Amino acid sequence: MKTLTVSLERTSYPIYIGSGTYQQLPALLKKHGVSRDRTIMLVSDTHVGPLYAGKIQEILQQAGYRVGLSLIPAGEENKNLKEFERVIGDCLRFGLTRRSVILALGGGVVGDLAGFVAASYMRGIPFVQLPTSLLAHDSSVGGKVAVNHPLGKNYIGAFHQPLMVVFDVDTLKTLPQKEVVSGFAEVLKHGLIWDESFVSWLEDRAGELLGLETEPLIEAIYRGCQVKTAVVSQDEREAGIRAILNYGHTIGHALEAVSGYRTFTHGEAVAIGIAGAARLSVKVVGASPALVERTEALLQAFSLPVRMETTWPAEDLLEAMKRDKKVQSGEYTFVLSPQIGRVELVRGVAEEPIREVLKELRRA
Ligand SMILES: NC(=O)c1ccc[n+]([C@@H]2O[C@H](COP(=O)([O-])OP(=O)(O)OC[C@H]3O[C@@H](n4cnc5c(N)ncnc54)[C@H](O)[C@@H]3O)[C@@H](O)[C@H]2O)c1
Ligand SMILES: [Zn+2]
Repeated sequence: MKTLTVSLERTSYPIYIGSGTYQQLPALLKKHGVSRDRTIMLVSDTHVGPLYAGKIQEILQQAGYRVGLSLIPAGEENKNLKEFERVIGDCLRFGLTRRSVILALGGGVVGDLAGFVAASYMRGIPFVQLPTSLLAHDSSVGGKVAVNHPLGKNYIGAFHQPLMVVFDVDTLKTLPQKEVVSGFAEVLKHGLIWDESFVSWLEDRAGELLGLETEPLIEAIYRGCQVKTAVVSQDEREAGIRAILNYGHTIGHALEAVSGYRTFTHGEAVAIGIAGAARLSVKVVGASPALVERTEALLQAFSLPVRMETTWPAEDLLEAMKRDKKVQSGEYTFVLSPQIGRVELVRGVAEEPIREVLKELRRA
């Protein structure tokens, strides 16, 4: 099992990554001050719950904990206030108090929703992230928790840091292949924005990683979390540098919005967005064309797309980019990369190079 620590101003917490780690949950809870007299609510979804919740409940009950279970229907569309309220109801009925602890077992949807329940229940109780999707190596670290509003994603939320994150990579064996591939987009992003040596390592290990081999998988998640941790530690409340985690997301979010969130997985949209950001970097911050080649080869090695198959209208994409909630004052803001492993936030990018990039992204 590998461990790293997220150090923040007022708190710090560990991320444990390994195989068979759920067996150690009672010991880890005890280590973090959660004694057996504190009630636990396990929150999961209808895909992940039936696979792993029973085993976790059994492990915890054998160690003397009282454990409830609350399941939400799987899927992004259920990351909403209705399910939030239902989980709160389950917590109340099970008798959770201010001393109780929520365990969020699932992908980013469960982590975000259960985390927001923990942030709100009785004005805030501790929670533990048990991420089960590859993308959740990203979403479970950093303390951003939220649900969606019909008018937009993640509009209702809070900052609430977990007590710890416990990642058991064995769970990834049941994750649908397209979700595995999608999750790698964020792993690659973490290398591309921060750590050239991680990128080289990923280039060498693509086959083993796509084959979900345990040791490289633990290492990849560890190094991805290391980058996220380094960035979040410097900017807990997203006032500055944390924006670089948005590499590839300006075009990515626009593609998701324009296609009605149906055509692409998040990772696919981000992969095309990263290819676009790399191309824009050549035009705007003087990156070498070799950066585009290397970036696209890496994405493709992980079965991710680097072109838009359908011709989404440039006007719609540009409009969506201006509306992105992370963009300020209606100007185009991009995270751009002068070289692999380094990025900078560039505000006020001119429209012409963006149009050119959108055209390039359409070419076969
Ligand atoms: N809080 C943050 O900082 C942050 C960062 C990035 C993304 N997010 C959020 O994360 C969410 C996306 O997360 P996601 O991609 O994990 O989606 P998800 O939670 O919907 O999981 C994807 C699918 O895989 C299933 N699944 C998950 N783990 C499984 C497993 N081990 N075996 C079988 N099936 C499994 C889920 O039930 C679901 O159907 C979005 O809502 C996004 O807004 C949050
Ligand atoms: Zn993302």
